[in-house]
Amino acid sequence: MTMKAVVFDAYGTLYDIQSVAAVTDKTFPGYGELITQVWRVKQLEYTWLRSLMRRYADFSVITRESLSYTLKILGLKCDVSIFEEIMDKYVHLDLYPDAKPALLSLKSYKRAILSNGSTEMLASLVRNTGLDTILDATISIDANRIFKPSPDAYSLIESRLGVRPSDVLFVSSNPWDAIGAKAVGLKVAWIERVTPEAMQKACERADLVAPLTMFRALRTQMDELGLEPDYKVNGLAALSDILPTNPEISSSVQV
Ligand code: 2OP
Repeated sequence: MTMKAVVFDAYGTLYDIQSVAAVTDKTFPGYGELITQVWRVKQLEYTWLRSLMRRYADFSVITRESLSYTLKILGLKCDVSIFEEIMDKYVHLDLYPDAKPALLSLKSYKRAILSNGSTEMLASLVRNTGLDTILDATISIDANRIFKPSPDAYSLIESRLGVRPSDVLFVSSNPWDAIGAKAVGLKVAWIERVTPEAMQKACERADLVAPLTMFRALRTQMDELGLEPDYKVNGLAALSDILPTNPEISSSVQV
């Protein structure tokens, strides 16, 4: 079995969503990290709530509304220009250091993003970070107006790239996304960005588990949803252990 395409989740997998803390901490000293953690939890929750309610709004609206919720619950106020500055970081997120090298090393495959991000947000982000010249496609779930982990979101990979699910390696650090992709027959590599050892260390340092540690833990532990990813890797560089660098030559290799 050979892979023909490698498709990446965007936020948290290629892009470090915690990099917004640089902006939020400048605006609200001491709150930067807390804002990013609550913001992300609420942002994801809204994608699932809106999907269940059948009241789709694109990810830029959801990202804006979840930031607004986060500031309100923390009792923080800012003027419109500061709010926009925080939002703007979402189209200038930092790439994880292993993202570009991994994408470049996989040039024998079709390389794409499949993300909950809106078409516009993703186009800006990919352009601002120079991935537009590397990727073959940036696919937004916008086209089907339903968020991952709906099967109708992942089906866009086959319709856009013309590659069957079993010929695609889908790469995500988000446990729920890894399981959603596995459920529709994609091959899946889950990147464990935070290891159990690191979590244990973080927990040892406090008498009670600090809320920030808990937020992170809830997003990084593999979910109990009855499925497992095919591979677990600790970074994007490890994808080369899964995928032959030249699939034509190594077409007999079983992965
Ligand atoms: C994505 O990029 C939300 O991280 C998720 O689709």
